[in-house]
Amino acid sequence: MGAHKRLLLAALAVLLFGTVISAAPGLFVTASTVTFARDGDGALDAPVPAVGEPGGPSRVLTPAELDQWKRGRELFDRSFHRSEGCGTPEMNADSCRACHQDPAIGGAGGLELNVSRHGGGGMFPDPASGQALSKLRPPFAAAREEYDTSVTYVFEQRQTPSIFGGGEIDGIPESAILANEDPTDADNDGVSGVARRIDVGGGTIEIGRFGWKAQVPRMVDFARDAMGGEIGMTTPDDGRGFALVTDGDPIMDPELSQQQLDDLLFFLTHLARPKPGGSTSPLRAQGELLFDTVGCAKCHVPSLAGVPLFSDLLLHDVSAPGFQGMDEPGAPSGEYRTPPLWGNCSTAPYMHDGAAETVQHAILLHFGEAEFARLNYLALTQAEKDALLHFLGDI
Ligand code: HEC
Ligand code: HEC
Repeated sequence: MGAHKRLLLAALAVLLFGTVISAAPGLFVTASTVTFARDGDGALDAPVPAVGEPGGPSRVLTPAELDQWKRGRELFDRSFHRSEGCGTPEMNADSCRACHQDPAIGGAGGLELNVSRHGGGGMFPDPASGQALSKLRPPFAAAREEYDTSVTYVFEQRQTPSIFGGGEIDGIPESAILANEDPTDADNDGVSGVARRIDVGGGTIEIGRFGWKAQVPRMVDFARDAMGGEIGMTTPDDGRGFALVTDGDPIMDPELSQQQLDDLLFFLTHLARPKPGGSTSPLRAQGELLFDTVGCAKCHVPSLAGVPLFSDLLLHDVSAPGFQGMDEPGAPSGEYRTPPLWGNCSTAPYMHDGAAETVQHAILLHFGEAEFARLNYLALTQAEKDALLHFLGDI
């Protein structure tokens, strides 16, 4: 975190809680708990980029739809206050825009905007201390997040992905995702994609498609989940298990109305898909061919139900040998959703934890199921590598 942001963070802590939160020795504080000043307010009338441009709508909207889109954008941009319910019981930031901002509102986030996940099943030094702090909490909160000290713990950084085109990903039929599954590697190509199955209540199973471990099925679920988990705002519940329903602060729940949630969802699902670079260089066609022959397209499927996202939305283990990460039901340690590559190769860093600064570095971090693809890439001539990277930067 840069000094500038650290200052803002301290300033906001004072604003929110009246005192600077300081970490007790031995507690684990992530550098990723970040917030920004209230520079996003009043955005209702901010200029709307043209249809298809970064941060613009996905299609031509009717005047009524445009109003709703702008109301949703204002909520995404708004720095929520404690008086609105922000920050209880905890928060990572006071707005969605604080993290999703590159190259425009709704986009990706830099390394300092990673969030942390932690849980059992991995290794973390000395879980005996018993407590974790991965989010901002007011000093009057009764307790910090407690470890279950009977298991060993793992902390995992998660990089902020872009939401551009998320509405189209939301609309892909489950059958199109399941069609690429090959859990037992029946075709013997070393690649064994598996869909994440999420119980959304009452035994109903849906396919996860959002988040680094495909842990969230629908965009509306992510809107609730992020409002609660990132900002500490309660939302109307729909029984699917993603809403923070009540948080014990004096503000009446739900802190966001159904109308506000609908507006936010409309904005999220009508954000334009990433815009291709439009290269006319012959390198592009050469790179596109290599993307296929090298084997990238086995997982980064160029198009799913007509959506050119360059992902199969399935889980694969491409982690380095010995990697220890979060173990979630249906998504063991090391398994991540193939990230969509559209528009992605210009918003460093890359990989779930942001470990790669460049696209080439990301490719070199492919092991396991993608071992062959990394080796094929390394065997390319420099001119071929350049063509492949040119293609990736253009999609
Ligand atoms: C502190 C930074 C931060 C804030 C604030 C934040 N996000 Fe995110 N967002 C992330 C990270 C990190 C991920 C990936 C999380 C994961 O997979 O574990 C993510 C993922 C998402 C995704 C899924 C994208 C995909 O394709 O997988 C959506 C949708 C989303 N956020 C919406 C929101 C909304 C809406 C808000 C405000 C209510 C919000 N986010 C606030 C960091 C943030
Ligand atoms: C076996 C499936 C598979 C193959 C084959 C594969 N990838 Fe990936 N790719 C993944 C997964 C899974 C991740 C995320 C891993 C992580 O975050 O730890 C990923 C991540 C990436 C990223 C980082 C994206 C981001 O948003 O951070 C890039 C870039 C990428 N792959 C490009 C390629 C290229 C180029 C090839 C071919 C040389 C390739 N991949 C082959 C599954 C695959």
